[in-house]
Amino acid sequence: MIVGLRVVLCPGVGVRDLGVRNVILIGPMGSGKSAVGKQLARALKLPFVDADIELEQRAGVDIPLIFEKEGEAGFRVRERELIAELVGRNGIVLSTGGGVVLLEENRRVLRAGGVVVYLETSVAQQLARVRRGENRPLLANAPDVGARLAELVSHREPLYAEVAAFSVRTDGRRVRDVVQEILGQLHGH
Ligand code: S3P
Repeated sequence: MIVGLRVVLCPGVGVRDLGVRNVILIGPMGSGKSAVGKQLARALKLPFVDADIELEQRAGVDIPLIFEKEGEAGFRVRERELIAELVGRNGIVLSTGGGVVLLEENRRVLRAGGVVVYLETSVAQQLARVRRGENRPLLANAPDVGARLAELVSHREPLYAEVAAFSVRTDGRRVRDVVQEILGQLHGH
């Protein structure tokens, strides 16, 4: 249930958001969180925050370098602190990194911080998207990227499902169609 976020959908007119809570996108690498988040924020007339970009801006270096210098553990500490702060805001659309659900504390603050939407995606679709050059340290040394993605999803899928208010499939769909579906679902919450 959204308590505090009032989303008024007026077909043909657009979406007017009077809210004080957040819409949070979760899902694996290459599920479209950033692209969907940007358009969703535009539709809701809310600011969009991409947690990975915010984290890099604050660190002054990119995520691969953080993994190299501090390991995944160091990255997760930074991510935990950032997520706790960001979900404390009111009225943002937030896209998160694919591993944000690993920590129980994150799962709790995400759930408490807004409506969490899980972008479900097949490994084939993830592969097509992550191959477009983005730099992901968890995939960097994988001999078989598809197998690595499948391994990550099998571990994380129950965690995404646990946190999400609802899920939306993004396979082979246009960003705007995914956004429309989310808007419709938000209306029902
Ligand atoms: C990660 C996903 C990345 C980024 C980091 C770790 C993960 O974000 O946070 O490389 O653990 O799956 P995207 O899901 O935006 O690629």
